[in-house]
Amino acid sequence: MEKIIVTAALPYSYSIPHLGNFVGSVLPADVYYKYLRMKGADAIFICGSDQHGTSGELKAMKEGKDPEELSNEMHAKLKKLFDSYECSFTFYGKTHTPENRDTVYEFFNSLNKNGYIGETESEMPYCNVDNMILADSFIEGTCPFCSYTKAKGNQCENCGRLLDPAQLVEPRCTICHKYDITFKKVKNLALLLDKLQDEIERFIKERSKNHWSKSAKNKALSYIKEGLKPRDITRKTRWGFPVPLKGFEDTKLYVWFDAPIGYIGITKEWDNNRWREYWLGKDTKLIQFMGKDNIEFHALVWPGMLIGSALGFPLPYTIKASEYLLDHGLKFSKSSATGLDMQAALGILEPDYWRFALISLYPETADTEFSTETMFSIVNGVMNDNIGNFVNRALSMAKRDAPRRQLRIAIEDGYRKEAENIIKEYISNFESLNLREAMRCVVALSTLGNSIIGNKQPWLLSKKAGSDADAAEELNRVLGTVVCLVYKVGILIWPFAPGASGKILSYFKVNSEPRMDMLDQEPKLDTSKEVKPIFTKLPESFAEHITKG
Ligand code: 2FM
Ligand code: ZN
Repeated sequence: MEKIIVTAALPYSYSIPHLGNFVGSVLPADVYYKYLRMKGADAIFICGSDQHGTSGELKAMKEGKDPEELSNEMHAKLKKLFDSYECSFTFYGKTHTPENRDTVYEFFNSLNKNGYIGETESEMPYCNVDNMILADSFIEGTCPFCSYTKAKGNQCENCGRLLDPAQLVEPRCTICHKYDITFKKVKNLALLLDKLQDEIERFIKERSKNHWSKSAKNKALSYIKEGLKPRDITRKTRWGFPVPLKGFEDTKLYVWFDAPIGYIGITKEWDNNRWREYWLGKDTKLIQFMGKDNIEFHALVWPGMLIGSALGFPLPYTIKASEYLLDHGLKFSKSSATGLDMQAALGILEPDYWRFALISLYPETADTEFSTETMFSIVNGVMNDNIGNFVNRALSMAKRDAPRRQLRIAIEDGYRKEAENIIKEYISNFESLNLREAMRCVVALSTLGNSIIGNKQPWLLSKKAGSDADAAEELNRVLGTVVCLVYKVGILIWPFAPGASGKILSYFKVNSEPRMDMLDQEPKLDTSKEVKPIFTKLPESFAEHITKG
């Protein structure tokens, strides 16, 4: 049987991700993985904390802590936070583990043996105040491509371009904030991507047919067109896995070398035997979710590492890269202080609201704008007025009338085709990873239910039913239909709003995780249960909370 590994880009464990990070990778990956579980696929969902890198090292330095201690503390917080958002990881692990280190060395040694690692000598910035080489986050300057003033030595957070520190305009040290920088010759090791160019190009052309995001395909091909160059995989830093090679004792492996390998390392951390079933299976699909600033690494460097090491691991099947969620036209970003972090967001609304609203705004093909107005329209207009009201009205009417009649909970002939088509569309959208469209199908099902209630006016039928056999028959059919639609909404909403799904399904005495095959079973309605609202409207104070964070 086909096996599927779903991954979400590993969040750095030196700060709490903001909602833009969440909607870019972990949330859509979780939504998709929940769908796979519902259909009974043999799939695992792997994510974890990206512990290395100079950002964490810098933060630890400023807080007077050890980077490992700081990242372990933050890792525990992140794990709890994702739990609160009801993410269904198979395992949420981390990268600074013996399992990952061993896997990283296996990659390194194979790449080296196969001739894909070479020595480079480059000019690196050196701070004359702090007396150290300034890699990545230790140096900041203006991006030569987009003029963003806080670009780092390895990447511009704004335009996503990978950088060489020497390309930064007006570079400064982020420890002492001085411009007292000279360049020194430094020896590093590089992955010889130029030697892998043809194979990487073939991989992109073949695999990008599998529902890749347009931006992932286009960016990857444009880098190929520019020509791939050797890329440094080591750094003169203190924090990270030591380079396992003589002459490089003062050097660590670059965080972006061990992070993607972390997908495998974390699977080993989950289960030291079962990881093989997935990563070494003959029929495995690797489906990777990320923000667009991670495309270059996932579509070029990581496949280069996989091809060059020839260890038999699968290449990415789908690269699903999101665009940006904007806040008043600015990227949600830690560094620019725009946007709400995941912890603060949880203090304002329950996770269901964020999950559902963020998927409505999922920047699947283009940047989208987050605003309080759109939040009001999604939460009040769609969640509360459409879905919440439908569920509430249908269940209340059924509770009132059911004891007096024999309800068959099934969709009557006149509506069956329409409901079936919506569910088919839901499935086909999920199969092609169009998550926003899949969610729209859940709303469409509830809209159908609302229109049936509006057209058939069951409260009038209920008045007549005592003396009119036809009216009684029709009431039975209408109630059976809308209650059945509520049940189906309860199942299909699970990936987006697991809390609401659980509440709805509790009226049908279902306490287990929903599955697609439950759609075809006739449910039993528990009419003894008090009908309570599934969603509520946003408080007027919402806008205030958002700006305070
Ligand atoms: O950009 C980021 O947040 C990185 N921590 C993503 C790493 S993804 C991977 F390859 F592990
Ligand atoms: Zn300095």
